Amino acid sequence: MSPGPLYRPPAPRALPPVRALLRSAFSGSRDLLSLLPEEAYRTWIAPLGVSRRGILLVNEPDMVRRIFGSDVATYPKNDLFVGALRPLIGDGVFVSDGDVWKRQRQMIEPSFGHMQVGRAFAAMEAATGAVQPILDARAADGEVLSLDAAVSHLTADIICRAVFSTTLESDAARRIFEDFAVFQETVANVRIARLLWGRPWAEVSQPAPARAACERIRRQIAGLIAARTDKSGEGARDIAGDIISARDPATGIGFSQQELVDQIGVFFLAGHETSATAVLWALFVLSQNPDLAARVRAEIDAEAGDGPIGLESVKRLALTRAVLRETLRLYPPGPFLPRVAARETEIGGYRLRRGAMVMVSPWIIHRHSGLWRNPDLFDESRFLSGSDAAVPAGAYLPFGLGPRVCIGAAFATVESTFLIAHLIRRYDIEVCAPEAVRPVARLTTRPARDIRVRLSRR
Ligand code: HEM
Repeated sequence: MSPGPLYRPPAPRALPPVRALLRSAFSGSRDLLSLLPEEAYRTWIAPLGVSRRGILLVNEPDMVRRIFGSDVATYPKNDLFVGALRPLIGDGVFVSDGDVWKRQRQMIEPSFGHMQVGRAFAAMEAATGAVQPILDARAADGEVLSLDAAVSHLTADIICRAVFSTTLESDAARRIFEDFAVFQETVANVRIARLLWGRPWAEVSQPAPARAACERIRRQIAGLIAARTDKSGEGARDIAGDIISARDPATGIGFSQQELVDQIGVFFLAGHETSATAVLWALFVLSQNPDLAARVRAEIDAEAGDGPIGLESVKRLALTRAVLRETLRLYPPGPFLPRVAARETEIGGYRLRRGAMVMVSPWIIHRHSGLWRNPDLFDESRFLSGSDAAVPAGAYLPFGLGPRVCIGAAFATVESTFLIAHLIRRYDIEVCAPEAVRPVARLTTRPARDIRVRLSRR
């Protein structure tokens, strides 16, 4: 089957500069994507709007590589971002810095190697197996459901099973995710005014309900860890087991109880809504492109027939993976990766004061007109071998770059490819109001409203 014309998936329209400036100065908007000026998608480096601390937008791939690579110590993670997450994950690997981060990363990395992703695949299979009868029943009833909720439930269940060998239906896990929803909703309320007018390194205070939710999540995680460490020597073969038995190669010392809670909090935070976002947008795109969906289904049928889609099959699903990668280009789950200048410095001819914000945005870089051909069109062939629409070097960073690149990238790629394949093979997805779907930047790149769908068994 030959591909049809390229599809333009929904995105906010970029604003002419003056309107962008006015809107960002005065609007109560919570969504950074809709405030971006047209120029942001064309420039290589430029100040973004007007702000107290100065926000420098950097799009040029070599400069981005410098910020995330050789100069990583000069540009640590942004203080506002870190401050917002600390009540939940303390000094966990997602927000820590310097030697503390290096030690944590060394101790955690082995849990996400290829062997471990193979082990986690069993969790992915079990979670899809558990949700299937529920989705089948809703499909049979012709019920309208939230695709966001269905996919988030799946990835939350996977992370519970992969980390703690427990399901989302367990009491502790259910409470953790209920509180997560409270935390996410509050933290996602990025106050644009604060971003523009706040002082660097000022304390970030969370509203009481978010703080309380974090405390409850940490208590639940501590309880799950304690139950595990009490049964000494029983170490289940899962990520929590790995992290509990991890030792610092230099000192032979393991993580303290508090550090264990921090790290495991990170996996819940970084490891489910991100993948859910990727799968959600991929399914939305497929639902709007019957020809592409047919080609993806043909690939899955040829590989797995009606049988289970095993790990080796997932690795061979080149077109499905290309659809995932193109989805991660147009809807990177982490739309902004903000940094802060830890000292006075210079980049691309701009002098930066200590505390200046440096904004690197996969959302913008992935749609930059100087880097991509037809940047706003969905063209999965960019990620197929032999394609002439090559991916520009250094211009694709859905998982970040350099030493702080996503630790779960291999896990997430297998998981998302598997979930897309499983769901698109089994169901036709009819979106209730596709024209109303609009992406916004929350903790991840979410649709402004839930995507309501009707599933039908194929
Ligand atoms: C499609 C899914 C995912 C995407 C797009 C994604 C994206 C990212 C990005 C962009 C970063 C770097 C952030 C920065 O530099 O500011 C990151 C870091 C991280 N991610 Fe992921 N992630 C995904 C799934 C996962 C999963 C499944 C896990 C674990 C279960 C995970 C764990 C982490 C951790 C621990 C870090 C911090 C690494 C460090 O700072 O050393 N991620 N992720």
